[in-house]
Amino acid sequence: MSFETVSVIGLGYIGLPTAAMFASRKKKVIGVDVNQHAVDTINRGEIHIVEPELDIIVHAAVTEGYLKATTKPEPADAFLIAVPTPFKSNSDNENGIPEPDLTYIEAAAKAIATVLKKGDLVILESTSPVGATEQMAEWLKEARSDLSFPQDNNIEPDVNVAHCPERVLPGHVVRELVENDRVIGGMTLKCSEAAIKLYKTFVKGDCVTTNARTAEMAKLTENSCRDVQIAFANELSIICDKLDIDVWELISIANRHPRINILQPGPGVGGHCIAVDPWFIVSKTPSEARIIHTARKVNDAKPGWVLNKVKLALANYLLDHKDKVASEVIIACYGVAFKPDIDDLRESPALNIVVELQKVHSGPLFIVEPNITTLPENLEIKSKLVSTKEALIHADIHVMLVDHKEFKKGDVSFLNKKYLVDCKGIWENSFVD
Ligand SMILES: NC(=O)c1ccc[n+]([C@@H]2O[C@H](COP(=O)([O-])OP(=O)(O)OC[C@H]3O[C@@H](n4cnc5c(N)ncnc54)[C@H](O)[C@@H]3O)[C@@H](O)[C@H]2O)c1
Repeated sequence: MSFETVSVIGLGYIGLPTAAMFASRKKKVIGVDVNQHAVDTINRGEIHIVEPELDIIVHAAVTEGYLKATTKPEPADAFLIAVPTPFKSNSDNENGIPEPDLTYIEAAAKAIATVLKKGDLVILESTSPVGATEQMAEWLKEARSDLSFPQDNNIEPDVNVAHCPERVLPGHVVRELVENDRVIGGMTLKCSEAAIKLYKTFVKGDCVTTNARTAEMAKLTENSCRDVQIAFANELSIICDKLDIDVWELISIANRHPRINILQPGPGVGGHCIAVDPWFIVSKTPSEARIIHTARKVNDAKPGWVLNKVKLALANYLLDHKDKVASEVIIACYGVAFKPDIDDLRESPALNIVVELQKVHSGPLFIVEPNITTLPENLEIKSKLVSTKEALIHADIHVMLVDHKEFKKGDVSFLNKKYLVDCKGIWENSFVD
């Protein structure tokens, strides 16, 4: 079993760094993506995503001839699938539980099936619901009845199949790909052995072996655990608001207990992982996954709660300023990314709050987001991208949504606390009561 040629299907935030890592270890890498723009960019030795250090590695890999990108799969010894696994957009069933969308995995599996040969290894890296790897192996088998697969109960199948989920942190992907422990979920032990051999090309962390279903559940469990913990903090923030208690002070006191570690509340939960993956558990086991389901609902409801706090601040402002009408009141929102110090707006609760605010507020909206240079199209209607200074000086109501490092500097104690909604507790506490 030797892996001289490796193919990575899906060259996004996960697939491109993975492809680059194999290429940097002098494997011949064929990157496949349906996005022609991504393929062309990579073949110029450039990158189409934001990830520190990746540009240098990709540039070297392409110019030295170890990495090329294409839109059509070519034969290789190992295939790693890193395509999106969202939930279906209009799939709310009668329980209101979104279903996972496996169509990207199906399309990728059917595409590589045409070039599969005896001795190949196929790894599903995409975050997947339990059973997706077995389903993928079925799609491969349907397309290639001339080859044997692990589900055929053949001790030495022609094609090995495994699920090896990715757990890297955006912004630290190059280091974490190498250093993190890797979950290796082979459909059989032999499949796991093959996958370990492949990953040991660059992985320095431990390769922890299990079966495919446990590997799938491990990734979903990690993200659901974070979601539940954040929901606890978000629920506390709402309880404390009602009881007139400072939630930030409360959490810092409680965390002095040696076995307590409460996370920080915020405007909700965003990103394409924590806000999505728990649904993969809930949709499979709706009656059993009660805490996980409730956590999703608590976190999804938080933006609406924040919106109501902004409406209350506006009402207070208008009560205090009888000479003004709502259309003259400037509301400034600080941060629209889904977490601090990144430019990624995907599934961002802060962005949702601003979009909803735009619908209900008749006056101007100032957006302060130091990590972007232009506003998304749906925000351009009424909103203006401004500097922190301009917003602090000219806005009447201030909504702190994301604790970017830029917002933690400077004095904001001159703001009127009645007209401030601070979802991250970084400004509220600059006031002396
Ligand atoms: N981004 C993260 O931080 C992260 C972390 C852990 C796990 N994951 C998981 O990894 C998977 C990929 O996520 P991502 O962030 O890299 O997504 P992404 O959207 O950045 O990249 C996916 C790429 O796949 C391509 N693609 C779609 N269908 C294809 C097909 N049939 N054939 C070839 N290419 C195809 C898209 O054009 C895109 O370039 C998802 O399951 C995600 O949940 C992501």
